[in-house]
Amino acid sequence: MKLLVTGGAGFIGSAFVRRRIAATDDTIVVLDKLTYAGNLANLAPVSDDPRVAHRLEFVRGDIAEPDDVRPLVGDVDAILNFAAESHVDRSILDAEAFLRTGVIGVHVLLEAARERAAKAPIRFLQVSTDEVYGDIKEGRSVEADPIAPRSPYAAAKAAGEVLARSYHSTFGLDVVVTRGANTFGPYQYPEKLIPLFVTNALDDHELPMYGDGLQERDWLHVDDHADGIGLVLDRGEPGAVYNLPGGSGRTNRAITTVILETLGKPWSLVRSVPDRPGHDRRYAMAGGACEALGWTAKVPFEDGLVETVHWYRDNRPWWEAARSGEWDAYYERQYGQRLSESVSA
Ligand code: NAD
Ligand code: DAU
Repeated sequence: MKLLVTGGAGFIGSAFVRRRIAATDDTIVVLDKLTYAGNLANLAPVSDDPRVAHRLEFVRGDIAEPDDVRPLVGDVDAILNFAAESHVDRSILDAEAFLRTGVIGVHVLLEAARERAAKAPIRFLQVSTDEVYGDIKEGRSVEADPIAPRSPYAAAKAAGEVLARSYHSTFGLDVVVTRGANTFGPYQYPEKLIPLFVTNALDDHELPMYGDGLQERDWLHVDDHADGIGLVLDRGEPGAVYNLPGGSGRTNRAITTVILETLGKPWSLVRSVPDRPGHDRRYAMAGGACEALGWTAKVPFEDGLVETVHWYRDNRPWWEAARSGEWDAYYERQYGQRLSESVSA
């Protein structure tokens, strides 16, 4: 197959590209805007390997720009849309880019897919998130549950996937949607909980834990997430939504403990800071639909976490480069005041 992978220079998109190229004969065109979170180094294991590099093409561009998208869709069998602004805290600071990429961008891709579908079959896979279900006090979300996003990020993701599904019901476009759980692993931009806490701890900087740290997320290794998306691409039912749970619910405190123990760093680095506004306490999903296709998460959480901590320890140049540019300004805006009001955790 020939695939158009948008956002393929990001954390999960690049894992998909690396794994799909290794496991199949597919050719892949990556369209990525290279925002602060996009990084060509994430694709280097493919682009620097002469055995497979010819099956990857990189194009820098914006999914919200029809002129960037249209020329790439003419001969592809599927579009996989990973492109998004992906950090909840940034959506609270300023939501506009989330809406532009998450709604207008998805619309531009869907229109291009519809044009292509008039001539040849094309599948559209929208990468969504468990955050669309909102705060789950108890039990596990199933795909038929109503969605109730609670952050601007989650609202933009919900809008994008609902729009994609509307193109299935209205125009008969072959659309599938995945809702992945909190993902962790190598090459994740160090603004998210796990890479932020690992890299801060490596430098003996404070770890800003929101509130009581008892919020719970369901953690999914990035390799499992990428493979689940691949399976839905290959076997998903047109029009269907697939949860991709990790099966590893953990509190932020429990994760922080493993990170500090792995690095031999003291708990005194952890500071309780004022909470994220509208912070969801818990996400949890059931994965029956994807299990029926033959997918289940394989990487045991603690093994994957220790391996991930070691990856950041051993790849300092990667994350130091990722934190150039606007990082210091973002960090000050997000954490400066919070840390000045922090208490021991
Ligand atoms: P990321 O921030 O690491 O990567 C996003 C990529 O999209 C970057 O390479 C960025 O340059 C690119 N991009 C952003 N706007 C673009 C635009 N307008 N046009 C083209 N490219 C653009 O994000 P991630 O963590 O890899 O997430 C990938 C997808 O998976 C997102 O859709 C996200 O909502 C979803 N998701 C993430 C998680 C998670 O825990 N990280 C879990 C479930 C779902
Ligand atoms: O659930 C899937 C989602 O997971 C994805 O759709 C998002 O793209 C991804 O960013 C992630 O969202 P979260 O908000 O759950 O991830 P984050 O790493 O930002 O936060 C995880 C938990 O850690 C959450 O309870 C907030 C907390 N946290 C986070 C940061 C960055 C802290 O306590 N301190 C922090 O500094």
